[in-house]
Amino acid sequence: MKEIVVATKNKGKIREMMDAFEGLDVRLVPLSSFGEMPDAVEDGETFDDNALIKARFYMEKTNMAALADDSGLMVDALGGAPSVYSARFAGYHADDAANNEKLMAELSRVEREESKAAYRCSLAFVDTDGATLMAHGSCEGVVRKVPRGTGGFGYDPYFYVGKDRTMAELTLEEKDKISHRGEALREMAEKLKKYLE
Ligand code: IMP
Repeated sequence: MKEIVVATKNKGKIREMMDAFEGLDVRLVPLSSFGEMPDAVEDGETFDDNALIKARFYMEKTNMAALADDSGLMVDALGGAPSVYSARFAGYHADDAANNEKLMAELSRVEREESKAAYRCSLAFVDTDGATLMAHGSCEGVVRKVPRGTGGFGYDPYFYVGKDRTMAELTLEEKDKISHRGEALREMAEKLKKYLE
């Protein structure tokens, strides 16, 4: 059985990964089981760069194969922003509310009530010998200045996946089916299966 450290402290993401890799001959080990771990410096210019930076960093720290993800929102009317800066759009210690406020202010600045947008996710697997697998997912939608729903996290209340429905109004199961992370995880599960054969 292949042991893989999951380079995230987010319990929700670990649950999603465990679901996606059910049936594979792998055991996912949470980063928390190694005690205090430093954070990787996510200074890449793309989601791929950051996912790889994190996977390599934790593979080296733990001497175990590592899996890491990076994701974010890209808004057409903002030239693709906030992209890799999604988590810290409103500053280094910004929370979801501050980031959403900044997103609305930016839409106002470009005189838009809404814009096409997409969530994107890159997943990187790095083995102890350096062997690397990448997987990608995206979820197209529209960001609109009218929030709806209380589920999800981040930009979900402003991200419309249907005419009158935001990501924050979906159940976890519904979100997994259409989300960027769900799609990337399914692709990675396929690739890992072949890699481990
Ligand atoms: P990370 O990949 O966990 O670092 O996510 C980066 C940031 O992208 C998050 O802090 C959110 O602001 C945003 N983001 C990523 N995925 C989602 C999602 O599914 N819903 C809402 N926001 C998301």
